[in-house]
Amino acid sequence: MLTSEPGQQPAPAVRPEVWETYGPADLSAVPVFAGGFINFGYWRSIDLERPLAESDRVRSEQDLYRHVLDAAAPEGARAVEIGCGLGLGCALALDEYRPAAITGVDIHPHQLRRAREANAPLLRARPQRLRFALGAAEKLPLDDAEFDCLYSVEAAQHFPDLPAFAREAARVLRPGGRVAVASFFTVDDAPAHADRLAGLLDSFASGLDIARPVSRLADALTDAGLVDVRVRSIGPQVWPGWDRWLARLWEPGTWPRNFLAAWEQDILDYYLVTATRP
Ligand SMILES: C[S@@+](CC[C@H](N)C(=O)[O-])C[C@H]1O[C@@H](n2cnc3c(N)ncnc32)[C@H](O)[C@@H]1O
Repeated sequence: MLTSEPGQQPAPAVRPEVWETYGPADLSAVPVFAGGFINFGYWRSIDLERPLAESDRVRSEQDLYRHVLDAAAPEGARAVEIGCGLGLGCALALDEYRPAAITGVDIHPHQLRRAREANAPLLRARPQRLRFALGAAEKLPLDDAEFDCLYSVEAAQHFPDLPAFAREAARVLRPGGRVAVASFFTVDDAPAHADRLAGLLDSFASGLDIARPVSRLADALTDAGLVDVRVRSIGPQVWPGWDRWLARLWEPGTWPRNFLAAWEQDILDYYLVTATRP
């Protein structure tokens, strides 16, 4: 599972569940993740009362990025995305938010290859403004104070070591730099949550997604020296829409439909977490 790219630091170790899901299994090719994005979507602007089209689904995935980028405020900034997948969020940011430059980081070499393929024309047209780098959230292949903002969309649920990620975020940001992270976490640290999630959701049972309270990330950011740490639930804009879309392909009672159940049972929620480097 260890591969390296010419001229780069040694490739990071990839957990087996992450390796399989984003490598050979290529989650981006699964029909529920339409358009090359791999996230549950932010559905506020989409009418859930009428039949959903694939264009609605892609819009939801783009809108999750827009929601995070609105918080990260990358205009004119040197921005970095952690867990960039196919890099389509980097391209969206470049197109709509006018950052000075953007770096997409992902731990999986197959994702980095897909990102470079998907963005080949953009990489050729704007080589100074877009690049992709192989690396782990917990050990970023980036210089100290290199960025004005760091953001991440639906990747932190996989990061095994949130304190290490938070320290790295603080390290690569300049003073005044901003963090915006969107992902799903348990609502609190009740010990029963992990077992209940493993019972409801295969992705938690397999260890792909890690059950932790959102306070774990917020505390890690504070401990890393970041300030103005804020946690906002965006679950109402994520879970009902995601489940309406899933209903096209998955029967009630099948495991992916249980994300909505986990939210309704007050176990899991989807959050936007922001912070600033003083
Ligand atoms: C659900 S996908 C999200 C991709 C993209 N952000 C999107 O919304 O389309 C999660 C991504 O995080 C990456 N990832 C998982 N663990 C990581 C880690 N420890 N460090 C960096 N990237 C990681 C995976 O390889 C995968 O590409």
